[in-house]
Amino acid sequence: MQRIVVIGAGHASGQLLDSLRRAGSEAHITLVGEESWLPYQRPPLSKKFLSGELTAERLAFRPESFYEKHQIHTRLSCRAVSIDRDIQTVSLAGGETLAYDLLALTTGTRVRELAIPGAELAGVHYLRGIDDALGLQADWQGRDNVCVIGGGFIGLEVAASARTLGKNVTVVEMMDRLMARAVSPGMSEYFLGLHTRNGAHVMCSTGVSELLGTDGRVSGVRLSDGREIPTDVVVVGIGVVPNQELAQEAGLACDNGILVDEFARTSDPKIVSAGDCTNHPNSLLGRRLRLESVHNALEQAKSAAASLMGEKLAYAQVPWFWSDQYNSKLQMVGLSEGFDRAVQRGNPDEDKFSLFYYRGDVLIAIDSVNRPGDHMPGKKLLAAGISPTPEQAADPEFPLKSLL
Ligand code: APR
Repeated sequence: MQRIVVIGAGHASGQLLDSLRRAGSEAHITLVGEESWLPYQRPPLSKKFLSGELTAERLAFRPESFYEKHQIHTRLSCRAVSIDRDIQTVSLAGGETLAYDLLALTTGTRVRELAIPGAELAGVHYLRGIDDALGLQADWQGRDNVCVIGGGFIGLEVAASARTLGKNVTVVEMMDRLMARAVSPGMSEYFLGLHTRNGAHVMCSTGVSELLGTDGRVSGVRLSDGREIPTDVVVVGIGVVPNQELAQEAGLACDNGILVDEFARTSDPKIVSAGDCTNHPNSLLGRRLRLESVHNALEQAKSAAASLMGEKLAYAQVPWFWSDQYNSKLQMVGLSEGFDRAVQRGNPDEDKFSLFYYRGDVLIAIDSVNRPGDHMPGKKLLAAGISPTPEQAADPEFPLKSLL
């Protein structure tokens, strides 16, 4: 019987397993996951899970019975340490080896760690997995002051959750604006206002030089300008790095991610890869990129499953993302980087607006706040390469759907 080993138990892996069995794969499948959890939804961790509205059980991608029913052998709390491509085996921490005919790498990303004195103190948290969120939840119970380092998606979502729980929140962001990696200056400005209005203290253009401790526990943050702010808890959200070492050490081509083609195939015909860990071509965008998104993980995993089944399903979609902060749902479609004109639709003062980004006459991306009616047709317009005129985009009454 054909043996498929899947390394990594995140979104891409959950979808890959589902797609394989749906497509009728009868392979002997083993899932190797470093965490103790079956594949689960990560986005709520910094939002509803952290604020206590959702439990861990509700996050599971599929219930345990799915894995039993589909005879997927799960090896959780288990780390794959090396791949021998010549004899087609995966070595696990502890010495065991698993033989494979086909291998899938859905290893995702890990948090970038803060490399400053004091980073190892108790009370300093990162947020990537359920265990991280549980740890943070337990630790900030009864503690009032939270300092968030990094004003990206994770930092701001955690800040909003902490404010919702009534904590005093300071956000320290190195760049001169929030979420600079992903959104335009206009959107950054709206979110700065949103957080400020909700009582968070946001400091941009500010670095952190040291975490200060008392009896082994964090008690303050020394900023790059020498100021010190006292705190009870620190949450670090300064980006993620792709888990590509396993692939790299096995000699697979990697460059800011595991290099794959549009069919999610790596440089080894027996190995596919999908999700945050891949660097892949996107024919709609005309370039290679690495994406950190649920949509990418799910869709690329479908291509990877098809490749494992000996079929071809090219992955080429317009990227989309979302973030929830307070009552503002930010939905992003396309990549706004390199835009030369942003057209506003709706009213930021009512927390309902979109920015349509153009390069020349071509629409390249839309960021919407509480305007799903712009986001949904926007996805289709971008996929079809249809650009509304800036006048149409600016008129909230103009039906975007009519252009489709
Ligand atoms: N001090 C302060 N800020 C920093 C520092 C630092 N030393 N280093 C980086 N930053 C800032 C960056 O400028 C950026 O604004 O941290 C922010 C990190 O933001 P993201 O790149 O969005 O990463 P993060 O928020 O950690 O989210 C990681 O998780 O939610 C998912 O898909 C999402 O890809 C994202 C991933």
